[in-house]
This record gives sequence, C-alpha cells and structure tokens, in this order.
Amino acid sequence: MAPLAGLRCGVTGAGGSLGRALLLELHRQGAQPVALRHGDQDLVLDDDGTPLQVETVRWSVGEEQALEPLLSKLDVLVINHGINRLGARDASALAESLDVNLLSALRLMELFLALAEPGDGRQLWVNTSEAEVNPALSPLYEISKRTLGQLLSLRRLDAACTVRRLVLGPFRSALNPYGVMRAEGVAADVVRQAMAGRELIIVSPNPLTWLLMPLTCWGRERYYRWFTRPPGP
Ligand SMILES: NC(=O)c1ccc[n+]([C@@H]2O[C@H](COP(=O)([O-])OP(=O)(O)OC[C@H]3O[C@@H](n4cnc5c(N)ncnc54)[C@H](OP(=O)(O)O)[C@@H]3O)[C@@H](O)[C@H]2O)c1
Repeated sequence: MAPLAGLRCGVTGAGGSLGRALLLELHRQGAQPVALRHGDQDLVLDDDGTPLQVETVRWSVGEEQALEPLLSKLDVLVINHGINRLGARDASALAESLDVNLLSALRLMELFLALAEPGDGRQLWVNTSEAEVNPALSPLYEISKRTLGQLLSLRRLDAACTVRRLVLGPFRSALNPYGVMRAEGVAADVVRQAMAGRELIIVSPNPLTWLLMPLTCWGRERYYRWFTRPPGP
C-alpha cells in the first residue's frame, strides 16, 4: 500500500462533485487537501456533519504559470476540472472545450512534470474519462478528453514522477446529471486503487472500458515509444 497520509494533495475542479468527494476522501486518508478553484469561494466540505475548511487557491484557465509556486509544494496534483458542452458544435464551444479540458490540463501537467525529480515521491493524477475509448454522446467532450489521454500517454514516457490515469464511467454531477454512479463512491474507489499502486485507475460499470482501456494504453505507449525519442541533453 502507498499511504497518502501527510501528503499535500491539490485537486483542480475542487468545487465540483468529484473534486469535493476526492478532497474529502484524501482528508480521511490523512492527506492535506488543497482545493484549486476557478470559482471565488473558499471550499468548505461536509465531513459527516462537521464543516471542514479546505485551503483554497484560485486560478483561471490561461494563468496556470501563476500556480508554479503552489505546485512546487504539492506531493500529489489531481487534474480533475472539466466541462461538457453537450450538443454544441459552434466555434465558441469548441474553443472553450479545448481550453478547459485539454490545454489548461496540459499546461498544469507540464508544470508539475517539470518540477518532479526522480525519487521525490510526487504523483500526478489525470482524470481523462472513459470517453477516451467509448462514446459519451458529446463529441466535443470526447475529442478534448481523448486528445488529453493520448498526450498523457506520450508525456508519461519520460515522467520522473508516478502518473496515474483516472478512467471513470458516468457519475452524477452538474457535468452529467444522468450519471449512474455516486461521486463519493467513485472517489473512494479511485483513492483505494491509487493506494494499491495502480497507475491505470478504472471505475466503471461498462465492461468494454475494462477491456479497451488497458489495450489502448498499451498499444499507444508502444507506438509512441517506437516513433519518438527521449528528450536529449
Ligand atoms: N460526471 C461524469 O460522469 C464523469 C465521467 C468521467 C469523467 N468525468 C470527469 O470528472 C471531472 C469532474 O467532473 P464532475 O462530474 O465532478 O463535474 P462538475 O461537478 O461539473 O465539476 C467540474 C468542476 O470543474 C471546474 N470548472 C468548471 N469550469 C471551469 C473552467 N472554465 N475553468 C476551470 N475550472 C472549471 C469547476 O470547479 P471549481 O469551480 O471549483 O473550479 C467545476 O465544479 C471532469 O474532468 C469530468 O470530465 C466526469
């Protein structure tokens, strides 16, 4: 087991359903939760009826560089924020989906990877979605999340830290009001699998995800390794 106790864990999209549930679960495992929010308010969680004030840091898409001092003090960064412009295909929804789901996630990922040193115990968790391999009935969401997943496969080849991919099925939230799972149960399973040392973390009732996701990651990583070279000195 890889304990999380004492680790400083930052989660983006902290005010959303999964963000809140993950921060609470991390707190229950003895970690120090840090909420990264694009909203204005400090995050207060409900820990079985007791209010839990969480250290909250504000950021906005495009201003990821300003988070570098904070990122340098985190042991675990969970990139979890996201939007789903269901049914849209206009230019503004396309730009927003790519900015929020893909480009800001990539910028945060690169900042954190650049800070990691071999053996420093840092962990990067990236919430892509089972939309990487299955339809989510939302093309812009799928495109942004699939591209994020592909680039995560490419960049983890040279990562000095542990990289975990969260591949989640539908759970109820503002982003997906029709989800069949509960964010609290999903968060508990994510944290349990992370503590068990899994790098590909799947929480989904869909058997196709369990079959396709490991194969996809395996195939991609071989292909990327063969046709690219490690960064030179
Ligand atoms: N729900 C599902 O079925 C499902 C399935 C697979 C994967 N996921 C992924 O899980 C993650 C969390 O989703 P959720 O279902 O918990 O959704 P959610 O409740 O809507 O939370 C998403 C959070 O992302 C942040 N956010 C929204 N717009 C943003 C923007 N323009 N810039 C920066 N941050 C923004 C907000 O948090 P703050 O206001 O605190 O910043 C928001 O509360 C997402 O990446 C989603 O793609 C969800």
